[in-house]
Amino acid sequence: MLKKWWHNTIGYQIYPKSFQDTNGDGIGDLKGVTAHLDDLADLGINVIWLCPVNKSPMKDHGYDVSDYDEIDPMFGCKDDLRELIAKAEERGIKILMDLVVNHTSSEHPWFQKALEDPDGEYGKYYIIQEGKDGKEPNNWRSIFGGSAWEWIKDTNLYYLHLFTKWQPDLNWENPVVRQQIYDMVNRWLDLGIRGFRVDAISHLKKDFTYQNLPSDGADGYVNGFPYFSNVDGIGTFLSELQETTFKRYDAMTIGEVDDDLPADVLSDFIGENGYFSTIFDFCHAKFHVNSAEWKDKPVEMIDALKKRLFARQDTIKGKGILCNFLENHDLPRIVERLIPAKEIDFYSRSMVGGINFFLPGIVFLYQGQAIGMMDYPKESIEAFVDPSTFIHYDEYLQNGMTKAEALAQINLKTREHARTPMQWNDGPYAGFSSADPWFQVNPNYRQINYDAQKKDPDSLYAFYKKMISLRKSDEFQELFLYGEFTPVYESEPGVIGYERRLDDKSVLVINNAKSTETILPIPGTIKKVLLSNYENPVLQNGNIKLQRYQLLILECV
Ligand code: GLC
Ligand code: CA
Repeated sequence: MLKKWWHNTIGYQIYPKSFQDTNGDGIGDLKGVTAHLDDLADLGINVIWLCPVNKSPMKDHGYDVSDYDEIDPMFGCKDDLRELIAKAEERGIKILMDLVVNHTSSEHPWFQKALEDPDGEYGKYYIIQEGKDGKEPNNWRSIFGGSAWEWIKDTNLYYLHLFTKWQPDLNWENPVVRQQIYDMVNRWLDLGIRGFRVDAISHLKKDFTYQNLPSDGADGYVNGFPYFSNVDGIGTFLSELQETTFKRYDAMTIGEVDDDLPADVLSDFIGENGYFSTIFDFCHAKFHVNSAEWKDKPVEMIDALKKRLFARQDTIKGKGILCNFLENHDLPRIVERLIPAKEIDFYSRSMVGGINFFLPGIVFLYQGQAIGMMDYPKESIEAFVDPSTFIHYDEYLQNGMTKAEALAQINLKTREHARTPMQWNDGPYAGFSSADPWFQVNPNYRQINYDAQKKDPDSLYAFYKKMISLRKSDEFQELFLYGEFTPVYESEPGVIGYERRLDDKSVLVINNAKSTETILPIPGTIKKVLLSNYENPVLQNGNIKLQRYQLLILECV
């Protein structure tokens, strides 16, 4: 495999709004990121992905860009970004931005001009269609719920928005739009950022043979994914984007691509000359131990997850490098998703952190993950702030749930859990801000915070540091990056185990992802315990006894 600079990435995703406020307005900012670079370097990361900081009316918290070339004043200015890039570079950390080009904000001047004159030049920047019989052009449901079309006042026209109505989809079929985007991308690369996380990129191409399909919900709409997700022909846009921008700068790019990408196109996406450097592996995103499907079946759930993880490794083999992650700004916190509430403690948390950390691929952590930040369920729907939460809530009511049931469902699934302010210390507002933050701090900050864990050699934070330094160690970095992957103990319930091997070096990673102990035979001879979240492994006549939620990494011969 051709070696690339980003292969050794230990990434860290920052949701700037909730990371650190430095000017007392209750909103995190770029200077707040710069202020914590030493902390991030201490953890051992070397790449930061900043969620969107472009100018935006913030209907979708920055995923609705109204000016691609400006930083939103709430986050600071371009000089703050330049400073962040320079100071990060001094610590060996590279900065990636979020690239949101499937859609713009409805307040983007292009869209405003399109509304004024839908038949004019800017009307062609978006996807605008005639309505049918006084209704939308078709019955696609938006990804956030409701129709994917919004009526344009005083016309028979509708514009497409796969996300909220404040996020009109750009028309990538229009070469003028594409060129505008490429030029903009290159301006940011010229400024010194080293790449992008590429938002919602599977949706760039739409199948224009619009069809009304039978509705699959009480709202009369239908999930139209086959018509707007990884549609045939998307590669033409993606390769043009790559050739015209990323490739010229040797940029690192992580595509947000759903994990149903057909195996035969994987190499096109992330092969040596792929559209992206890597894509996220969303395998785990579908699992929640408190969902109707998995309630009271935690071990069966882990086995289903293992099956997906391993199948994914099979598909990816030889085709490219995956980006392994567990948390992001669109998902509840990982420990809540995988571990039954009564079992949550240091052991289960640290084991979960390791569940995909040593698989082939690069790794990305999300802010707060390394200190084990948790979901913050709300007592009332009004305590939430994200439009998509409210759209889903209404949908649940429409489908017959009571208000209490709908709220419970939101509390289980909402992405807003990941967006509570970062818990730095046990002072006011958890040290995030000196003023009332834009979104409520989780009251558990007195127990769970960065300062306390940084001082404690037995904390979760300390354990994440150990995992990172093992992956980065001179001795094992190459093995974790390029070594073979072979499942071990595959049929053992609740155990995710595998061997990583490079030349004559072999490492066995075992996650006992359940609340009971497991006795397993050791294949080969143990040379060294590389990492464990318990004191020492217990050996018994060639077997090893793993305690509940033990993560054990052994070098074997
Ligand atoms: C991506 C982002 C999400 C956003 C959506 C629309 O999925 O991660 O936060 O709402 O795209 O841009
Ligand atoms: Ca601020």
